[in-house]
Amino acid sequence: MRLIALSGLLLLGLMSSQGVNAASIYAGHATAAAVCSQCHGIKTPSADAPFPPLAGRDADYLKTTLKQYRDKTRKSDIMNAIVGSLSDSDISNVATYYARLKP
Ligand code: HEC
Repeated sequence: MRLIALSGLLLLGLMSSQGVNAASIYAGHATAAAVCSQCHGIKTPSADAPFPPLAGRDADYLKTTLKQYRDKTRKSDIMNAIVGSLSDSDISNVATYYARLKP
Protein backbone atom coordinates (compact mmCIF):
# COMPACT_ATOMS: atom_id res chain seq x y z
CA MET A 1 0.00 0.00 0.00
CA ARG A 2 2.75 2.46 0.89
CA LEU A 3 4.48 1.87 -2.42
CA ILE A 4 1.27 2.45 -4.32
CA ALA A 5 0.58 5.67 -2.42
CA LEU A 6 4.12 6.80 -3.05
CA SER A 7 3.99 6.19 -6.79
CA GLY A 8 0.67 8.02 -6.87
CA LEU A 9 2.26 11.02 -5.23
CA LEU A 10 5.19 10.93 -7.61
CA LEU A 11 2.79 10.76 -10.54
CA LEU A 12 0.82 13.71 -9.18
CA GLY A 13 3.95 15.79 -8.83
CA LEU A 14 5.11 14.90 -12.31
CA MET A 15 1.80 15.74 -13.92
CA SER A 16 1.15 18.98 -12.11
CA SER A 17 4.56 20.23 -13.11
CA GLN A 18 3.45 19.71 -16.71
CA GLY A 19 0.29 21.71 -16.18
CA VAL A 20 -2.12 18.81 -16.59
CA ASN A 21 -5.16 18.20 -14.45
CA ALA A 22 -3.38 16.03 -11.90
CA ALA A 23 -6.55 14.89 -10.17
CA SER A 24 -7.95 13.30 -13.31
CA ILE A 25 -4.68 11.58 -14.14
CA TYR A 26 -4.51 10.24 -10.62
CA ALA A 27 -8.09 8.94 -10.74
CA GLY A 28 -7.47 7.46 -14.18
CA HIS A 29 -4.40 5.69 -12.90
CA ALA A 30 -6.42 4.15 -10.05
CA THR A 31 -9.02 2.76 -12.46
CA ALA A 32 -6.39 1.52 -14.87
CA ALA A 33 -4.39 -0.20 -12.15
CA ALA A 34 -7.41 -1.77 -10.47
CA VAL A 35 -9.41 -2.83 -13.55
CA CYS A 36 -8.03 -2.33 -17.05
CA SER A 37 -4.49 -3.47 -16.41
CA GLN A 38 -5.70 -7.02 -15.73
CA CYS A 39 -6.10 -7.41 -19.48
CA HIS A 40 -4.59 -4.38 -21.20
CA GLY A 41 -1.69 -3.93 -18.82
CA ILE A 42 -0.44 -0.43 -18.17
CA LYS A 43 2.20 0.04 -20.85
CA THR A 44 1.71 -3.20 -22.76
CA PRO A 45 -1.07 -5.80 -22.67
CA SER A 46 -0.75 -9.01 -20.69
CA ALA A 47 1.50 -11.36 -22.63
CA ASP A 48 0.10 -13.57 -25.41
CA ALA A 49 -3.50 -12.38 -25.08
CA PRO A 50 -5.63 -10.62 -27.71
CA PHE A 51 -5.96 -7.38 -25.78
CA PRO A 52 -5.30 -4.15 -27.68
CA PRO A 53 -2.67 -1.85 -26.15
CA LEU A 54 -3.94 1.44 -24.69
CA ALA A 55 -0.81 3.39 -23.72
CA GLY A 56 -0.16 6.39 -25.91
CA ARG A 57 -3.40 6.07 -27.87
CA ASP A 58 -5.40 9.16 -28.81
CA ALA A 59 -7.47 10.32 -25.80
CA ASP A 60 -10.50 11.20 -27.91
CA TYR A 61 -10.41 7.81 -29.59
CA LEU A 62 -10.31 6.08 -26.22
CA LYS A 63 -13.17 8.18 -24.83
CA THR A 64 -15.34 7.65 -27.89
CA THR A 65 -14.67 3.93 -27.93
CA LEU A 66 -15.40 3.50 -24.23
CA LYS A 67 -18.71 5.33 -24.61
CA GLN A 68 -19.57 3.10 -27.56
CA TYR A 69 -18.91 0.05 -25.41
CA ARG A 70 -21.00 1.57 -22.65
CA ASP A 71 -24.03 2.25 -24.84
CA LYS A 72 -23.36 -1.04 -26.70
CA THR A 73 -23.02 0.51 -30.15
CA ARG A 74 -19.70 -1.32 -30.18
CA LYS A 75 -20.12 -4.93 -29.13
CA SER A 76 -17.72 -6.86 -26.97
CA ASP A 77 -19.10 -9.06 -24.20
CA ILE A 78 -16.09 -8.28 -22.05
CA MET A 79 -15.84 -4.53 -22.63
CA ASN A 80 -19.61 -3.93 -22.57
CA ALA A 81 -19.71 -5.46 -19.08
CA ILE A 82 -16.67 -3.62 -17.78
CA VAL A 83 -17.50 -0.14 -19.00
CA GLY A 84 -21.19 -0.41 -18.09
CA SER A 85 -20.60 0.97 -14.62
CA LEU A 86 -18.19 3.78 -15.53
CA SER A 87 -19.34 7.41 -15.37
CA ASP A 88 -18.41 10.02 -17.97
CA SER A 89 -15.69 11.33 -15.69
CA ASP A 90 -14.32 7.79 -15.05
CA ILE A 91 -14.08 7.35 -18.81
CA SER A 92 -12.48 10.72 -19.32
CA ASN A 93 -9.97 10.12 -16.53
CA VAL A 94 -8.85 6.68 -17.64
CA ALA A 95 -8.62 7.80 -21.29
CA THR A 96 -6.52 10.81 -20.28
CA TYR A 97 -4.28 8.60 -18.17
CA TYR A 98 -3.61 6.00 -20.86
CA ALA A 99 -3.21 8.60 -23.62
CA ARG A 100 -0.41 10.32 -21.72
CA LEU A 101 1.63 7.15 -21.18
CA LYS A 102 4.53 6.43 -23.47
CA PRO A 103 4.03 2.92 -24.87
C1 HEC B 1 -11.25 -8.93 -18.83
C2 HEC B 1 -10.33 -8.29 -19.78
C3 HEC B 1 -10.48 -6.79 -20.03
C4 HEC B 1 -10.51 -5.78 -19.09
C5 HEC B 1 -10.44 -5.91 -17.56
C6 HEC B 1 -10.59 -4.53 -19.83
N1 HEC B 1 -10.61 -4.78 -21.17
FE1 HEC B 1 -10.68 -3.39 -22.67
N2 HEC B 1 -10.72 -4.87 -24.07
C7 HEC B 1 -10.70 -6.23 -23.81
C8 HEC B 1 -10.86 -6.95 -25.05
C9 HEC B 1 -10.92 -8.47 -25.22
C10 HEC B 1 -10.97 -5.97 -26.09
C11 HEC B 1 -11.21 -6.18 -27.58
C12 HEC B 1 -12.72 -6.11 -27.77
C13 HEC B 1 -13.15 -5.84 -29.18
O1 HEC B 1 -12.80 -6.59 -30.08
O2 HEC B 1 -13.91 -4.84 -29.38
C14 HEC B 1 -10.87 -4.68 -25.43
C15 HEC B 1 -10.91 -3.46 -26.10
C16 HEC B 1 -10.73 -2.23 -25.51
C17 HEC B 1 -10.65 -0.96 -26.23
C18 HEC B 1 -10.71 -0.77 -27.74
C19 HEC B 1 -9.30 -0.67 -28.28
C20 HEC B 1 -9.24 -0.43 -29.76
O3 HEC B 1 -8.14 -0.61 -30.31
O4 HEC B 1 -10.24 -0.05 -30.38
C21 HEC B 1 -10.50 0.01 -25.30
C22 HEC B 1 -10.36 1.51 -25.55
C23 HEC B 1 -10.47 -0.63 -24.00
N3 HEC B 1 -10.63 -1.98 -24.17
C24 HEC B 1 -10.32 0.03 -22.80
C25 HEC B 1 -10.40 -0.57 -21.54
C26 HEC B 1 -10.38 0.17 -20.29
C27 HEC B 1 -10.21 1.68 -20.18
C28 HEC B 1 -10.50 -0.76 -19.30
C29 HEC B 1 -10.61 -0.48 -17.81
C30 HEC B 1 -11.73 0.36 -17.40
C31 HEC B 1 -10.58 -2.07 -19.92
N4 HEC B 1 -10.53 -1.92 -21.28
C32 HEC B 1 -10.66 -3.27 -19.24
C33 HEC B 1 -10.54 -6.81 -22.56
C34 HEC B 1 -10.55 -6.15 -21.34
